[in-house]
Amino acid sequence: MLMNNFLRNRKSIRDFKNRDIDGMLLDEITEYCDRIGTEGYRFSLFQDGKDIFKSLEGIGGYAGVMIKSPHYVGVNIKGSKEENIIYGAYNMEYLITKLTELGIGSCWINLNDVDINLRKELLGSEEGDMDYLLAIGYPAAKNPFAAESISHRMGVEDMVYDGEMGKHIDMVQLQQRGLDDLFYYIRFAPSSYNRQPWRFVLKDDRVILLLMYSDEEELSLVDAGIIMYYFEALAKTMGIEDKWTLIDRADYEDGELSYRYIGEFKI
Ligand SMILES: Cc1cc2nc3c(=O)[nH]c(=O)nc-3n(C[C@H](O)[C@H](O)[C@H](O)COP(=O)(O)O)c2cc1C
Repeated sequence: MLMNNFLRNRKSIRDFKNRDIDGMLLDEITEYCDRIGTEGYRFSLFQDGKDIFKSLEGIGGYAGVMIKSPHYVGVNIKGSKEENIIYGAYNMEYLITKLTELGIGSCWINLNDVDINLRKELLGSEEGDMDYLLAIGYPAAKNPFAAESISHRMGVEDMVYDGEMGKHIDMVQLQQRGLDDLFYYIRFAPSSYNRQPWRFVLKDDRVILLLMYSDEEELSLVDAGIIMYYFEALAKTMGIEDKWTLIDRADYEDGELSYRYIGEFKI
């Protein structure tokens, strides 16, 4: 599937069929998990989702609304190192695109409110911290008479800046540079609480990625890894083969809001 169509149509799946994923596909998912894991982050497939759901009901997910699925994938980030969080999320999103190709739906589940000892006991995360799970399974049939809920997305003009933070970009300039589609589709990436904290500064031949945070909405490096994955994949379909380079620079401050510099991409 073309990456732009994939992004336009993708959405989180929270209702699953009460049926296990076929054994061969589970083997394939295990292979993917093994392949994308590294020293800094490991992926594990939990085949028996029942116990996980029972133990996390009321505490896992947004406000304790745990998502019930036949299986879960966990990502275990070693030492909570920033780079590992970013690339762990990047690779989880790669896995999600592969799962979608196999007809499997998924939704990220936030485990921040779950006691760390319970996480370790339940998910066996000896070396690191398992902050997120991915609920996976066959999507339940949709009610054809119910209106589909669509998560809101902000406009390109609120996300992309010209040369420096705060200077809005002229959409004609984006079109002339052939970047309008890329920024249009990238907005459909998922983010924690759908906050869409990504901001892009277009400066000469580079795109700089920053992540917004504040006292109320904490920095989520996972969201950075997710957008980096889709950005690279979309750029590739346009013939641009670059990869993000992480950058370490003092935050950009704007009143109550802070912006963390994440990376640079040559366009
Ligand atoms: C890191 C992360 C954590 C998330 N945690 C949860 C969660 O705990 N519960 C939930 O229902 N959705 C969760 N989501 C799904 C987002 O709310 C969802 O991606 C966003 O609202 C956009 O909707 P869409 O994915 O359908 O486009 C999470 C997404 C991300 C990226």
